[in-house]
Amino acid sequence: SPLTTPLTPTATDFQPLQLIEVKARGRFGAVWKAQMNSRYVAVKVFPLQDRQSWISEQEIYSLPNMQHENILQFLGTEKRGEGLDTAFWLITEYHQRGSLYDYLKANLVSWNNLCHIAESMARGLAFLHEPCGAKPPIAHRDFKSKNVLLMSNTTACIADFGLAVKFDPGKKLCENHGQVVGTRRYMAPEVLEGAIQFNQDAFMRLDMYACGLVIWELVSRCSAQDGPVDEYMLPFEEEVGQAPSLEEMIEAVVSHRKRPAFRDTWMKHSGLASLCETIEECWDHEAEARLTAGCVEARLSQLLRTSNQ
Ligand code: ADE
Repeated sequence: SPLTTPLTPTATDFQPLQLIEVKARGRFGAVWKAQMNSRYVAVKVFPLQDRQSWISEQEIYSLPNMQHENILQFLGTEKRGEGLDTAFWLITEYHQRGSLYDYLKANLVSWNNLCHIAESMARGLAFLHEPCGAKPPIAHRDFKSKNVLLMSNTTACIADFGLAVKFDPGKKLCENHGQVVGTRRYMAPEVLEGAIQFNQDAFMRLDMYACGLVIWELVSRCSAQDGPVDEYMLPFEEEVGQAPSLEEMIEAVVSHRKRPAFRDTWMKHSGLASLCETIEECWDHEAEARLTAGCVEARLSQLLRTSNQ
């Protein structure tokens, strides 16, 4: 029977849980495909020294009202092993297609699927960003195509809340949340510059900058463009290569205000051309000018409605 509520550590202790193979390696440990009874689940294994990340991620997933179709379904946690061999497990739903990054490397997306994927991703981000009942607003802080999972060819969910921060009404953000975290390639100019403001809206705008880059990745692999589609490349790979230093990112994104390029072949498709405008409004140098996730979601629904007529 499908699990709908998080398992308590003791409840999963009695379920046979068999790790099968490593599907992804992240900042903290590895994500395994695992089998629990007759179903597959994903298990993120945090080594002993990353216990705090395991706690942080678990805290975000355990907030009230966190269940949403575009947020990875959390199932439970476990502590395994003893002493130096202790590992901390975080168990979630398993999605066989893997991350959007994995998918785009191997596949092209049709115009319709692109819109549906982007719309569902924006819906997940809008849910995360906005308060919803007892759920506080949450900033992801490491939004990227590796942290978006595909549940089907048309539906995405957001994963990896190890760096996420919640905004409790009336409470000031904890000091250590001012640190520069996340993935260099997806860092907004104000983060690279060390000039980020310390408030809720400013944090949400960092996610929106990264969201623009992810939509660019989707467009770059869309089969509706006029002509052959290029091999998958990471955002800024053309500008700064595979492993840029912080200084190289600052030079490109802050000093020269570079962004990933749009191809002429995209502009001949009216839908893709209009999506490129939305991308530009997500990664605007001025944080205050960026679109919100709710606005991106609305633009994509509109685009789907008009292109299906
Ligand atoms: N990669 C990272 N997390 C995953 C998950 N939950 N399912 C499948 N692949 C993943």
